[in-house]
Amino acid sequence: MDRLSERLLLIAKQVNDKDVICDIGTDHAMIPIYLAKGNLITKAYACDIAEKPLAQAKKNIAKYQVGEIITPILANGLHGLANIKIDSCIISGLGSASILEILQNDSDLIDRYILCSNDDPTILRQWVKAKKYFIEKELLIKENEIIYEIIVINKVAGQKVKNKRDILFGPVLRKEQTKLFQEKWLLKNDYYQTLLNKIPVKTKRYQEIRAKLKMINKVI
Ligand SMILES: C[S@@+](CC[C@H](N)C(=O)[O-])C[C@H]1O[C@@H](n2cnc3c(N)ncnc32)[C@H](O)[C@@H]1O
Repeated sequence: MDRLSERLLLIAKQVNDKDVICDIGTDHAMIPIYLAKGNLITKAYACDIAEKPLAQAKKNIAKYQVGEIITPILANGLHGLANIKIDSCIISGLGSASILEILQNDSDLIDRYILCSNDDPTILRQWVKAKKYFIEKELLIKENEIIYEIIVINKVAGQKVKNKRDILFGPVLRKEQTKLFQEKWLLKNDYYQTLLNKIPVKTKRYQEIRAKLKMINKVI
């Protein structure tokens, strides 16, 4: 089996021992196969909206002889999982808007989510706040010069998302202030500063960016 990238490996590590998982946007089913081969899960549903990646997922599942543990499902988001109890639902490698759309079908059958979006995850933490769920963990990982956030959402325990700062920075990441966190927000600071210089002062956009810069400067 090809080695998992550092990002996928860190996502896989957030699954609890012997969980029943689903991996939405599974592509070639790399995460479920890694977990099944390591005997780390009870069952996995490897879901993808597109036939081509799912065909490759099926080939890989057969090749690594994990067909008893992993069921491939061709479906949009959570639609293929009706009445199935899931301990951990992974959604990674999609944009936050797509992830948010998938989360609209959240149900009591799903206990926790492991999310890693390709872009700004702010709207995902807004969703956590609106649903009154909790952040169990937040992690940063740098891959190909991009810093990704991994957000583990738990429905019963963890940190609350209380305010604008928690939404923007993450309640856990903000407190931990790791090197990568500093790097991420120093880069954002430079980006917003450059942007601000190009926007007319008396616009709403200018005020929004100025407010963001103020927040960044207070946090880092
Ligand atoms: C870039 S791959 C991500 C692979 C892997 N999860 C990762 O994190 O690298 C995105 C995959 O998500 C699938 N996808 C996109 N929208 C989806 C949706 N609404 N439901 C299920 N799969 C979706 C695509 O077909 C594609 O295989």
